[in-house]
Amino acid sequence: MCGIVGVLGNHEAAPLLVEALKRLEYRGYDSAGIATVNNGQLDRRRAVGKLVNLSDLLVHEPLAGKAGIGHTRWATHGAATVSNAHPHKAGPVAVVHNGIIENFRDLREQLAAAGYAQESQTDTETVALLVRQAMDAGAGPVEAARQTLKRLHGAFALCFLFDGQEDLLIAARKGSPLAIGHGTGEMFVGSDAIALAPMTDRITYLEEGDWAVITRAGAEIFDDHDRRANRAETRIQIDATRIEKAGYKHFMAKEIAEQPVVLAAGLQHYTQGSADGGVNPALHLPEGVDFTGVDRIVLVACGTASYACHVAKYWFEALAGLPCDIDIASEFRYREPPLSPTQWAVFVSQSGETADTLAALRYAKEKVARVVSVVNVPTSSIARESDLTLPILAGVEVGVASTKAFTSQLMVLALMALKAGVDRGRLDADALAGHLAALHALPGLMNHALGQSAEIAKLAEELARAQDILFLGRGPMYPMALEGALKLKEISYIHAEGYASGELKHGPIALIDAQVPVIVLAPRDALFDKTVSNMQEVMARHGKVLLISDAAGLAEAGSGTWATLTMPAVDAIFAPILYAVPAQLLAYHTAIAKGTDVDQPRNLAKSVTVE
Ligand code: AGP
Repeated sequence: MCGIVGVLGNHEAAPLLVEALKRLEYRGYDSAGIATVNNGQLDRRRAVGKLVNLSDLLVHEPLAGKAGIGHTRWATHGAATVSNAHPHKAGPVAVVHNGIIENFRDLREQLAAAGYAQESQTDTETVALLVRQAMDAGAGPVEAARQTLKRLHGAFALCFLFDGQEDLLIAARKGSPLAIGHGTGEMFVGSDAIALAPMTDRITYLEEGDWAVITRAGAEIFDDHDRRANRAETRIQIDATRIEKAGYKHFMAKEIAEQPVVLAAGLQHYTQGSADGGVNPALHLPEGVDFTGVDRIVLVACGTASYACHVAKYWFEALAGLPCDIDIASEFRYREPPLSPTQWAVFVSQSGETADTLAALRYAKEKVARVVSVVNVPTSSIARESDLTLPILAGVEVGVASTKAFTSQLMVLALMALKAGVDRGRLDADALAGHLAALHALPGLMNHALGQSAEIAKLAEELARAQDILFLGRGPMYPMALEGALKLKEISYIHAEGYASGELKHGPIALIDAQVPVIVLAPRDALFDKTVSNMQEVMARHGKVLLISDAAGLAEAGSGTWATLTMPAVDAIFAPILYAVPAQLLAYHTAIAKGTDVDQPRNLAKSVTVE
């Protein structure tokens, strides 16, 4: 939800901090700030809004010093104002924080009673005041920080900087990710490895409850019992070019366009030529993906990832006959679902750091046969706490609205469902080969769908004028209606809702009039006739129907629609993966027409690391 960074460098820290924060802006961009120590003097600069505002401020009011910390904020406690912007400072200490301190109100009251008044509305300033209070009582910086950490409840990734200390950072992690970067005579701290990529590829991830004393000579890491801990240093391969727009106007446009290549690479990774050297691809999932003896599966995620789970439910049940529950992570553990030692729990998350999903995973652990994660970041917290992880191999996804990660999640879940079908004796070699061939055809079909971008842009001019937009779908296209609505609303800010086509007549049809575009996602499949009937119900009430189907479907649906988009014919069961493209392009072009910030929509963050 926020991004933090720290630098103990041999050069001016401010430019390095700002560059790292640029790579962390996807985690939140309500305000930004840095602090440095220069000639023993701790000072800071903070600005509301995007990082560019802080950069402007630093031009006019530069900040010198080779030791520093920085922060880009997604507001949790307190509005996006300068006084609430990090770094927060109290006497000789400055701190940046990602997470939520759940007991900060009690701590704030105790501090106020002791004469330490808080200026901001944030939980983070409370942390700084606690360290100051401990230092006033005679503790040194390290001991003061250690004492403070013990008093905090909730989730935090923290980095402290101290007056007069040009070679000291203290970092701590509980519930929010934090990485330490190793340079040559330099050391770094960051919310993730991407932030540190320009400075180092040598990364140590702190584990849950760890804290670290960092100098340019290295890091001393302690566990939550203050025992010395050894954490592995790994080399992270982050292709810097993949974090650029590569000529596209927006990251989202690039990431939508990358999908055929990304999907083909993922399919290549998880299916190769069959063992007998034949041309038919065979499944090559990690060894642990064996559904023998598994009698149920639950898929848990948030947002777009939860819609991938919703689609996969159809696949696990239709292809494998495996009972499949789905739930959004923020509800899952609170309903105390009956879990059994003969079932799997699968957690789907692009970032692998979503707090709700991580908390749901921790609830399920020890209650099920296997905890499996489907993530885009194999070094993420969710991956590290799973029994088994399937990377989706989508590459870095910068756009806050998930696109290539979504279709890559679908691809991995489809392969898992096929494997379940094989393990449970529901799919023979021929059936498997047919489904794999259908999946391998998808990248080419997606390229065709991407060719509709210009046509969709024209439709978007009209959609941008709407106040309300509905999406309809049946069967595995119903979750695609939900996803299409989410994509549109989260980047164009237009109210949009997705419905099962058959559900419209049970109330929502009251919303229909000539001002309401209704986007129908309907390949010519076994449910098409029913969807056409629902469409007729909408048009009979002057609703503006945009029908997205294949040529056969459009021919059968007849006239009366406001507009149509022609998709290539596709194997119906995997149609959701293909139909994600028009849904994404509709959202993208409508947002462009509205002039909203496509890559960093208001109020959002790419990784929601607070519950
Ligand atoms: C996707 O477009 C949204 N920005 C959001 O719903 C996202 O899918 C959700 O927050 C889950 O994120 P995750 O996949 O990183 O767990």
